[in-house]
Amino acid sequence: MDGPSGSGKSSASRGVARALGLRYLDTGAMYRAVTWWMLQHGVEPADPAAIAARAADPVLDVGTDPDGPTIAVGGVDVAGPIRGPEVTGAVSAVSAVPEVRARLVAAQRAVIGSGDIVVEGRDIGTVVAPGAQVKVYLTASAEARAHRRTAELNGGAAGTTVEAQRAAMARRDALDSTRKADPLVRADDAVELDTTALTLDEVIAEILRLVKERT
Ligand code: C5P
Repeated sequence: MDGPSGSGKSSASRGVARALGLRYLDTGAMYRAVTWWMLQHGVEPADPAAIAARAADPVLDVGTDPDGPTIAVGGVDVAGPIRGPEVTGAVSAVSAVPEVRARLVAAQRAVIGSGDIVVEGRDIGTVVAPGAQVKVYLTASAEARAHRRTAELNGGAAGTTVEAQRAAMARRDALDSTRKADPLVRADDAVELDTTALTLDEVIAEILRLVKERT
């Protein structure tokens, strides 16, 4: 499952994994965890050579239960801090560094293994799992995505506005779509699903229908 930020990937992926009794992998959380580690260690996100030099150092541990996915770096639970503004503001720069991507793609393939799993990210259908049985590319209007993300963050009492979110998401999507290494792009064989006018249950139902049709 690929798509830009706020397209509803996380809720939809977890819902589909739960419905099918499958594992769930949030690859964005892995890029966020590496970014958190770099910031903790004083490595400048805007310095690709410095990021590349430390790319192999963070030790990640991910849990794949869709009811409670976990993420730790060097034994520290970072599920909370990786959603904060510092990491969100720096993650696109860190994830554009090829050494970081090579390392995390290998780690993601190791987690995926040979079993069934729902994986969400930006390059899953194109790079991480080009042979996936079902590929979905989720989109939604910029307006809908900004509203969803604002509600999500304010639910966590972060205090933000739709306008601020729209600008931040546009910046992150532009960086993610134009980077040289594995940019966000729809795989040729992915089914595009525009979630703007759909409820979460409708999105999940549509994906389950696709899974049934193709597996
Ligand atoms: O999905 P989420 O918004 O948490 O992802 C955070 C960032 O991680 C994205 O903006 C992108 O820069 C990076 N990412 C990536 N490839 C993935 C997943 C996420 O580059 N497969």
